Amino acid sequence: MTTSSAPGKIILFGEHAVVYGRPALAVPVTQVHADVEVTDADSAGIWIQAPDIHLHAELNTLPSDHPIAAVIHNLFFLSRVSPFPSLNIKITSTIPVASGLGSGAAVTIALTRALSTHINYSMIDEQINAFTYEIEKLHHGTPSGIDNTVITYAKPVYFVKGQAIETFQVAKPFTIVIGNTGISAPTKESVGDVRKLWEADKTKWGNVFDEVADISFSARRVIEEGWTKMLGALIDENHALLQEMTVSSPELDRLVEAARNAGARGAKLSGGGRGGNMIALVESDQAEAVASTLMEAGAKNTIITQVS
Ligand code: MEV
Repeated sequence: MTTSSAPGKIILFGEHAVVYGRPALAVPVTQVHADVEVTDADSAGIWIQAPDIHLHAELNTLPSDHPIAAVIHNLFFLSRVSPFPSLNIKITSTIPVASGLGSGAAVTIALTRALSTHINYSMIDEQINAFTYEIEKLHHGTPSGIDNTVITYAKPVYFVKGQAIETFQVAKPFTIVIGNTGISAPTKESVGDVRKLWEADKTKWGNVFDEVADISFSARRVIEEGWTKMLGALIDENHALLQEMTVSSPELDRLVEAARNAGARGAKLSGGGRGGNMIALVESDQAEAVASTLMEAGAKNTIITQVS
């Protein structure tokens, strides 16, 4: 049996603007993960079981652009494995789907690592990352590549599309509460809507993306210097710009407001928006109280995570 696991992720700063070449900061979230088990099968074929998405199928019965089928076909093509081995592939994930926590990228990465190891086709992180980016295009249309990058390397990343990957140091660990609206919102749609805004007025939205870029740039410095108290205001500013981009929602705004009222230093949506998750920066001893306030304000679940 070959197994692999990949974490979820949150974007701290810069979502959406990152699609247009501006910097963004993302960190792994190890409390949630995608897990894949590959074993040799007794009966011919490649049998996929993914109970979380109610998928129980043989590979050849899936459409070729199905993201899981695409991972397997592309990997076998790359590795030139022939004939196809008979395998059982079990995929489970505790990362909520379409919630901004990187579930699609995490499944692809865990599956690619487990499968490539099982068939003795060695892939370094750089190849896993590039391979996952191609699959992400099936999920998202025009992804920046930030999700696959932060999940592949499982480290905090300062990401600029098309540039060499930079990780950043966290001088002083800080605590984030993640609140899930429970509303599943495909990233592809919010990314597509921001694109329409940008195409209608490139100057205006280019300036908004530049403001986000300034925030990401400052946030990196603040985190690297350990000036965590200054981070809250940057988080709030970033949320206001995401509202302007129309990617927030009443549910996200309600949770953001509730977190701030409960004493969070700052709060914003995280990821594609319109639903999915928001994040709040808190003092570690306030985390439980902010998490309960978020549940009272309608969150479906919360995660407390330390960024270090
Ligand atoms: C999704 O996690 C982040 C977005 O910026 C899209 C992307 O970067 O591909 C909304």
